[in-house]
Amino acid sequence: MSGIAGPLSLRSRRILVTGAASGIGRATCELLSRLDARVVAVDIDGSGLQALEQQLGGEGHASLCADLEDLDRIPGWMADIAAAGPLFGFVHAAGVSCVQPVRLLTPAVYRKVLTLNTEAALALARGFQKKSVRDPAGGSIVFISSVMADVGSIGAAAYSMSKAALHGLSRSLALEFAPAGVRVNCVAPGFIDTPMFGRMSALWEPAQFARVREDHPLGLGTALDVAHGVAFLLADTGRWVTGSVLTVDGGYTAH
Ligand SMILES: NC(=O)c1ccc[n+]([C@@H]2O[C@H](COP(=O)([O-])OP(=O)(O)OC[C@H]3O[C@@H](n4cnc5c(N)ncnc54)[C@H](O)[C@@H]3O)[C@@H](O)[C@H]2O)c1
Repeated sequence: MSGIAGPLSLRSRRILVTGAASGIGRATCELLSRLDARVVAVDIDGSGLQALEQQLGGEGHASLCADLEDLDRIPGWMADIAAAGPLFGFVHAAGVSCVQPVRLLTPAVYRKVLTLNTEAALALARGFQKKSVRDPAGGSIVFISSVMADVGSIGAAAYSMSKAALHGLSRSLALEFAPAGVRVNCVAPGFIDTPMFGRMSALWEPAQFARVREDHPLGLGTALDVAHGVAFLLADTGRWVTGSVLTVDGGYTAH
């Protein structure tokens, strides 16, 4: 796909991706590099980042091992990254799942989920809005939310709350950043076969696994299915799309 022309090309656009070492973030980095973007891969997993580097085609990529729960440091390291060239956009794919009944949801438990899934997204936006960090020609931000933002599930209170907040956040940022030509959207996946899903589904009975599979009329998704939606929103294909949620769920929410 390298050398792609037309509105899906991300040629020379520098795009930061969090959660880059695994699952959806990793598939996004690989696809963006095939679309000629220059990827800045961020994750807490340093060895996963090293493995990713071997997979990326093209040139000009970079990576940073960082803990996104360290919110105060995010704008600073984004400024350091931008010293090597402005960022066209970023994708916040780092996240944690949480399946806990409410009786176990102490503030420490749900705040950890909110910190990474939601507050880090806002901290990244704070870092990105600086004129010295973003591309003066415009840009695009994508938050990976979830169908759980709109659909309830027993034990998903903290996770649903963290992802629904991203939808509200992206709409307000879309209005605030539009004058600078920066678009802000969410991609809401259904169940995707990634290491996160593997850890979660390992606790399920076979019947529960079968039910989840049946709930997706097109079957379970792959990380690349989600990455395709992200690329559409980053590239000029999404140039008139902002404040939106792109649902990529194999029909899960069509029921
Ligand atoms: N897999 C699914 O079924 C599914 C469905 C809907 C939404 N999502 C969302 O998609 C995103 C990616 O999920 P995935 O399935 O690829 O997960 P994953 O567990 O495979 O990857 C998550 C990545 O985030 C990184 N990470 C975790 N904590 C971090 C921290 N503090 N700082 C920096 N990096 C950190 C991990 O090291 C990992 O590389 C998440 O936001 C998740 O909530 C996943």
